[in-house]
Amino acid sequence: MQQQNILVIGGSGFIGSRLVNALSLGNHFVTVPTRRRQRARHLVQLPLVDVVETDVHDDARLDRLVAGRDAVVNLVGILHGRRGQPYGADFARAHVELPRRIAAACARHGVRRVVHMSALGADPKGPSMYLRSKGDGEAALRAQSGIDLTIFRPSVVFGPGDSFLNTFARLQRLFPLVPLAGANTRFAPVYVGDVVSAFVNSLTGPHARDTIGQTYELCGPKVYTLAELVRLAGQWARVGEGCGRIVLPLPDALGRLQARLLELVPGEPLMSRDNLDSMKVDSVCSGALPGFVPALGVAHPESLEAIAPSYLDPRRQESEYDALRATAGR
Ligand SMILES: NC(=O)c1ccc[n+]([C@@H]2O[C@H](COP(=O)([O-])OP(=O)(O)OC[C@H]3O[C@@H](n4cnc5c(N)ncnc54)[C@H](OP(=O)(O)O)[C@@H]3O)[C@@H](O)[C@H]2O)c1
Repeated sequence: MQQQNILVIGGSGFIGSRLVNALSLGNHFVTVPTRRRQRARHLVQLPLVDVVETDVHDDARLDRLVAGRDAVVNLVGILHGRRGQPYGADFARAHVELPRRIAAACARHGVRRVVHMSALGADPKGPSMYLRSKGDGEAALRAQSGIDLTIFRPSVVFGPGDSFLNTFARLQRLFPLVPLAGANTRFAPVYVGDVVSAFVNSLTGPHARDTIGQTYELCGPKVYTLAELVRLAGQWARVGEGCGRIVLPLPDALGRLQARLLELVPGEPLMSRDNLDSMKVDSVCSGALPGFVPALGVAHPESLEAIAPSYLDPRRQESEYDALRATAGR
């Protein structure tokens, strides 16, 4: 596949950073817009990567970013936002209006290839603002003519630097007991490296064209309840003398009260009522596990057991920068 010029919106985050790194290693030019250059400083040193501080919500700037690209990837996502029906303004802006505007800009500039990150359970009629806005975002993209679209819907994504398992490990280092809402919700955690391989193959792989017009669910090889995941995170992080803390499942009403209180703490809440609403549906793939379709090049997705202990165990941890540098061969 020849060298491509790819715009990765949301490329500074957990999944995006790894995708940008992989595309750069594949000898592709990558541009990463960010609201704050500081957030993307770990990408600045990568070969063929251009980090641009800008506002992708401004149409003129978005037009300039999109023009002349071979492909545009959208990874922008938020977990928390103001409340509203069917969702508040923050979810509308990030998950619905931005994809719609990206698709329109691509069509205006003749950029056909668009790869979009949604989430498992995305549904305009879903139980949470997150899932409803992700569902409407998908619909907005599909409504745009003149683009070649692929949509990915992963379950929770794990890997070094994830916020999911790392947060539960950190909490257990601080507290002897974890009162847990949504304890029975099921997840099929998928490794960030496999998610990135799926994106890279859909953009530049030998069967990339087969992925056009498709929506793919991405899951790891095994299903766990949230309580099981929290216990494993504690065990692998070697808290409580290596065996994790006590996980106390909360009934719905108490879980909601806990989320309400956590929303009042300044900064990003650990858990919101909307996160709880998302967990009213399991985050598991509808088809048989495991394995992605052949065009995505991941026949055997990595298991949590094979990867997570290496970055949760404080004795084996490497920094985010070291991890990126190692994969970049620097
Ligand atoms: N991680 C998971 O387990 C998981 C599971 C399912 C689906 N997803 C989806 O995968 C995507 C990437 O997830 P991630 O975990 O890599 O997220 P992340 O680490 O939080 O990164 C989010 C990215 O989006 C950008 N962004 C956030 N809010 C924005 C806004 N209002 N306007 C413009 N840019 C904004 C950030 O850019 P700057 O801050 O640099 O501007 C950052 O690059 C998201 O769409 C998410 O919903 C993630």
